[in-house]
Amino acid sequence: MIILAIETSCDETAVAVVKNGREVLSGELFSQADKHAMYGGVVPEIASRNHVAVIGHLTELALKNAGISKKDIDAVAVTSAPGLIGALLVGVNFAKGLALALDVPLIPVHHIRGHIAANYIAYPQLEPPFLCIIVSGGNSLIADVGGYTDIRIIGRSRDDAAGECFDKAARVLGLGYPGGPALDKLAQDDGSGKPGDDTLFNLPQPVIDGAPYDMSFSGLKTSIVNIVHNAKQKNEPLDTSSLAASFARTVSCILVPRVISAAKAFGHSKIAIAGGVAANSRIRADFLKAAEDENLTLFIPPLSLCGDNAAMIGSQGYYEFKAGVQADMNHDARATMDTDIVF
Ligand code: KG4
Repeated sequence: MIILAIETSCDETAVAVVKNGREVLSGELFSQADKHAMYGGVVPEIASRNHVAVIGHLTELALKNAGISKKDIDAVAVTSAPGLIGALLVGVNFAKGLALALDVPLIPVHHIRGHIAANYIAYPQLEPPFLCIIVSGGNSLIADVGGYTDIRIIGRSRDDAAGECFDKAARVLGLGYPGGPALDKLAQDDGSGKPGDDTLFNLPQPVIDGAPYDMSFSGLKTSIVNIVHNAKQKNEPLDTSSLAASFARTVSCILVPRVISAAKAFGHSKIAIAGGVAANSRIRADFLKAAEDENLTLFIPPLSLCGDNAAMIGSQGYYEFKAGVQADMNHDARATMDTDIVF
């Protein structure tokens, strides 16, 4: 089954052609990051307009690079929730038009379910059940993946997402947008080729009473902002590379032990990570070590599949379709939607 998949939930326009949920025939991506950089974050209206400008061309390119024509498409999958509503609407309406014109099924896909499915593309042998942590710009979730469409959230951030925290920390350090990759680089290199000292700053790691897998990042964000502002006010030098390294260690210390103990509690021998923050070098290294120590099999998608992309939507779309999920022309995008709800 050949699925044309579309992703426009935030500031990446992506179109992919995916065969039988696992084989990516083509994947095109247009990142708008530079168009939002001067504002220090994504401006929803600008995101929507840029999706409109490139989605048609990207679709033509995806078909050309897959070596297929429109008549070879068996279904159209699209990210329908959650995300920026204007941005989602561009993808959903484009997908509706395409599905209607080609007379093929329209498959709505939950963005977070898509992030989990990035692992199916990276690892053809991976099948549920497994435990997955999804850490992106808008979400930090721990999911018990019982089946391809049987997904139960067992832990979540009570406030900011891990990625948002990376972006805000980077912004206060003047590293621009998106901040995660820049902060990652600064932690590894203080400018002289040496990594920052990850023990120099003792940053908060909140625990939520009675909810062992829930997380909180807003206190960590505030503490970084305070450290930077204090240093500026007192005109004191700040070891920003060590602050970045201490910050990455702290986020990793919030994520990794929760995933390991959840895997044990829910009887999983396989763990997977997903989302843009899963590209972080410290977090990847800590997961690799913890999985080895605990004798768990770890699945880490390559960097290209961690961030938003359409291949993951095509993969999850295939399994949603097999489970009977389809939408009609009344289908609408939703800015928010729980991951465990089926369309
Ligand atoms: O999954 P994603 O591309 O978009 C959402 O669905 O939100 O995630 C974007 C987030 C941003 O907050 C970005 O700063 C973060 O992922 N990110 C990173 C790294 N690469 C991207 N955070 C930490 N370290 C990285 N290397």
